[in-house]
Amino acid sequence: MEWTDKLATGISTIDSQHKELFKRINNLVIAIKQHRCKEEIEGTIKFLDDYARIHFSEEEKHMRDSSYTGLEEQHEDHKKYLAMLAELKEQASLTRMLGGSYDLSATTNQVVVDWIVDHIMKLDMKYGAFLKSRKSSE
Ligand SMILES: [Fe+2]
Repeated sequence: MEWTDKLATGISTIDSQHKELFKRINNLVIAIKQHRCKEEIEGTIKFLDDYARIHFSEEEKHMRDSSYTGLEEQHEDHKKYLAMLAELKEQASLTRMLGGSYDLSATTNQVVVDWIVDHIMKLDMKYGAFLKSRKSSE
């Protein structure tokens, strides 16, 4: 999963946080692929969860401050992502309880990766376009 300029919304704070999210998600994908120790994978999921919460609330604040009409749609989609992370977290702790070998579902993992690309491409870009069109009509 690579960051490209096609994913840039034009809002610098949001774009740099998206880049960081990409980096962290990539770390998680690698950790899961390499069957790294539970602690490391759980730690990465926890960081991703904390960071996503901070990012979403800043992004939503940005949208609220600019009276963005698509805020509700954004909020719902952000909630979906946090729910997926919660599922990943649960899978991680279940594996620990069973004491089995650590093998997180590749599907769940893929869902998290697909979500971010899809979310940025559709919803966040829409917000970037909203800001741009408002600026040009001023
Ligand atoms: Fe967003």
